[in-house]
Amino acid sequence: MSKIKVAIVGVGGRGSWLVETVAKRSDVEITAVCDRYIRRAAYIVQQCQLTGTRVFDDIGPLLAAVECDAVMVTTTDAHHAEVVVPALKAGKFVFCEKPLETTARKCKAIIAADHQAGGKTFVGFNLRYAPVYARVKQIIDSGALGDLLTIQADEFYDGGRTYFRRWNRSRAEGGGLWITKASHDFDLLYWFAGAKPLEVQAMAAKTYYVPKAEAAMQCRHCRLEATCPDRAPREAPALVQIREESGGEPHDLCLYNAPSDTFDHGIATVAFERSILATYTCNVVAGFSDRRIRVAGTKGTIEGCLSGTTLTLYKRDPSACIQVPVDVDLGISHGGADADVQESFFRFVRGEAEPKCRPADAITPVCLGLAATLSGDTHRAVSMARYRL
Ligand SMILES: NC(=O)c1ccc[n+]([C@@H]2O[C@H](COP(=O)([O-])OP(=O)(O)OC[C@H]3O[C@@H](n4cnc5c(N)ncnc54)[C@H](O)[C@@H]3O)[C@@H](O)[C@H]2O)c1
Repeated sequence: MSKIKVAIVGVGGRGSWLVETVAKRSDVEITAVCDRYIRRAAYIVQQCQLTGTRVFDDIGPLLAAVECDAVMVTTTDAHHAEVVVPALKAGKFVFCEKPLETTARKCKAIIAADHQAGGKTFVGFNLRYAPVYARVKQIIDSGALGDLLTIQADEFYDGGRTYFRRWNRSRAEGGGLWITKASHDFDLLYWFAGAKPLEVQAMAAKTYYVPKAEAAMQCRHCRLEATCPDRAPREAPALVQIREESGGEPHDLCLYNAPSDTFDHGIATVAFERSILATYTCNVVAGFSDRRIRVAGTKGTIEGCLSGTTLTLYKRDPSACIQVPVDVDLGISHGGADADVQESFFRFVRGEAEPKCRPADAITPVCLGLAATLSGDTHRAVSMARYRL
C-alpha cells in the first residue's frame, strides 16, 4: 500500500511532538511542515532529518504547491478554522486538534466545510481513546449502570505554571480555560451522558495567578527569581527561543503579572436531557496532574482515574464491588491515548475506521465552555438553547 502523504501545520509544543512521532512511521510521509514562525518549521524538519519535506508559513501556498492526502492541524485553538477550512476545500482529510475552535461561529464554519467535503475531519479529542475512558464508555453502553443519574469529573493539573505565561491564559487565543482545558472534560461528560446538554451553571475564580507588585514582568529581571517556585528556566527550549527571537512573547513572562482573563480554579454543573446531572472541577494550581471520573446510574457506579490501571464498579442489586482491569500503557501520554488517536486517524484516511469524534460532535464541548464562561461572568445559569446545536 502506498504511503499516506501528510502536511503538519502549527509546530509548537504539540505539533513538534506530532512531527517527531509521525516521522517514525513507515506508512506515512510528511511532505510539508508549516508554521507562522517558519524557522520553527525548518528547525523541526532538520531535527527529524526529514529529506524532501518542504516548509511553509501559510496553508494557502502549501496547498497550492504540495501533494498531500491529509493535513494535521496543531495550531493554537483560535487558529484552527483558518487552516481546517481551506484544507477541506482542497479535498484533504483533516486531523484537527481539540478544541474544534473557540467560537460557535467558527465551529459552524468547520462543520459546513466538513459537510461539503463529505465528512473528512477527525477531531483529536484524544481522551475518548484513553483506555480508562473507553472502558467507562463501554460499561455505560452495556447497560451495567442502568439509567444514568450523575457524572462527576475532576481535573487537577500542574500546568498553571505554563498556562499563565502562554497563550492559554487569554480568551482571545484559547477561549479561556473553560474551552482550552475543559473542552476535553466537557466532551467526556457529553459522550458519557449520550444526551443533549440543556443548561450550564459555573463558578470560577483566579486567586493564585494574580498580580504581585514586588515581582517584575519577566523572571530574568525579577528580584524574587531565586526563591520563586514558579520561575521559568533561564534557558528556553529551542522552539520557544525561536518564537522569542521572531518577535513572539518572551519565555519567562511572570505567571502573576502577565495579563490574563481566565481563571485558575472553577466548578461547572451541566444538566443534560433525561435528568442526567454532571459536575466538573478544574484546578490548575495543583502540584500534580490527574483526572478522576465517577459515573452513577440506577444499577451501579463506575469510578477511576486517568493515571490508574483499574476501575471500580459498585453494583446495586445485589450489592457488589468489582475491580475492572484496564489494559493501558501509562508510558504513552494522556493516559495511553496518544498512540491510538494517531493510528486511528491514519486508519480513517485509509477508509478502515470511523472517527470517535467528528466536528458535529465537537461543537458541543466548545459551546459548553462558552456557556460556562458566560455563567461565570454573569453569575447566572445559561441555557444551551442560545447555541442552536
Ligand atoms: N489533545 C491534547 O491532549 C493536546 C495537548 C496539547 C495541546 N493540544 C492542542 O494543540 C494545539 C497546539 O497547542 P500548543 O501547545 O502546541 O501551542 P503552541 O503555541 O506551542 O504551538 C502552536 C503553533 O501554531 C502556530 N500557528 C498558529 N496559527 C497558525 C497558522 N494559521 N498557520 C501556521 N501556524 C500557525 C504558532 O506559530 C505555533 O508555533 C492547541 O489547539 C492545543 O489545545 C492538545
